[in-house]
Amino acid sequence: MKVLISTEDVSKRINELGSEISRYYSGRQFTAIVVLKGSFIFAADLLRAVEPNDFGIEFIRLSSYRGTSSSGKVEMFMGELEKFRGKDVLVIEDIVDTGLTLTFFNEKLREIGANSVKICSLLEKPEINKGRVKIDFLGFPIPDKFVVGCGLDHNEKYRNLPFIAVLDE
Ligand code: IMP
Ligand code: MG
Repeated sequence: MKVLISTEDVSKRINELGSEISRYYSGRQFTAIVVLKGSFIFAADLLRAVEPNDFGIEFIRLSSYRGTSSSGKVEMFMGELEKFRGKDVLVIEDIVDTGLTLTFFNEKLREIGANSVKICSLLEKPEINKGRVKIDFLGFPIPDKFVVGCGLDHNEKYRNLPFIAVLDE
């Protein structure tokens, strides 16, 4: 396992993202949607760095992965999307890889009639996403390597690492 982004760099960048989001929504209501499971650690750190504190927080579980490769199909759990109708939502994701997951979810939010949809992702693999999903608040672009830590797993392991690491082949 090789450290790609240190604990210190991750936490510094998350605080910066929190400030950016606070400025963006300044004086406006919004609802944060945490995409489980991968985003729970990132979201916990990020949302504590956002002010003021009277926004809503909701959870959704989206899953497109088996092992280390995309299954090409997205499953949605806890999917009561009605409550997002007319809302300004901020989707919080751990990583945008192929963009399949968020393309799917964006489409769902559009169908239900969310007023606006912004995306915050800790990581992006730009060579793979190729601009398909536009990320409004991005932590770090990374190379096309399978990474773990800060909520990201490999077969449910390594989520609690406080840094981002590349898993050995
Ligand atoms: P996408 O649909 O291909 O953009 O993939 C998004 C989802 O796949 C993310 O929310 C992650 O859960 C998972 N994923 C993609 N790349 C990685 C990785 O390098 N490590 C761990 N999980 C990943
Ligand atoms: Mg995920």
